[in-house]
Amino acid sequence: MLKAENVTKQYGSQTAVNGVSLELEDNAVTVIVGESGSGKSTLARILSLIEKPDSGRILLGDAEADRRYAKSNRRLVQLVMQNAASSLDPHQMRR
Ligand SMILES: Nc1ncnc2c1ncn2[C@@H]1O[C@H](COP(=O)(O)OP(=O)(O)OP(=O)(O)O)[C@@H](O)[C@H]1O
Ligand SMILES: [Mg+2]
Repeated sequence: MLKAENVTKQYGSQTAVNGVSLELEDNAVTVIVGESGSGKSTLARILSLIEKPDSGRILLGDAEADRRYAKSNRRLVQLVMQNAASSLDPHQMRR
């Protein structure tokens, strides 16, 4: 289970993510909906341990996913960008 607790991220004076808490269950599909600029991609980068929140924390199971944790466990959380097929190796997909 991947959990966000009160996650906040600012870019200058722009608040991108404002106190988001959520739980992503294993083997479940969770959809985050919001207008353009509402912070979906920023939240996704934070959940993927690519980016650090200004405040709040990310937990993987019971462990806090801090910077050191992210370094050794980054593979546990993967971000698949839009047009996912172009991110994947076409040779692998043809098998
Ligand atoms: N690297 C960045 N530097 C500065 N501002 C950023 C950065 N990334 C996002 N922002 C700002 O943070 C806010 C949230 O942007 P974000 O891209 O997370 O929204 P989004 O919901 O993914 O939008 P879209 O639906 O258009 O993809 C916006 O105001 C955006 O301009
Ligand atoms: Mg986006």
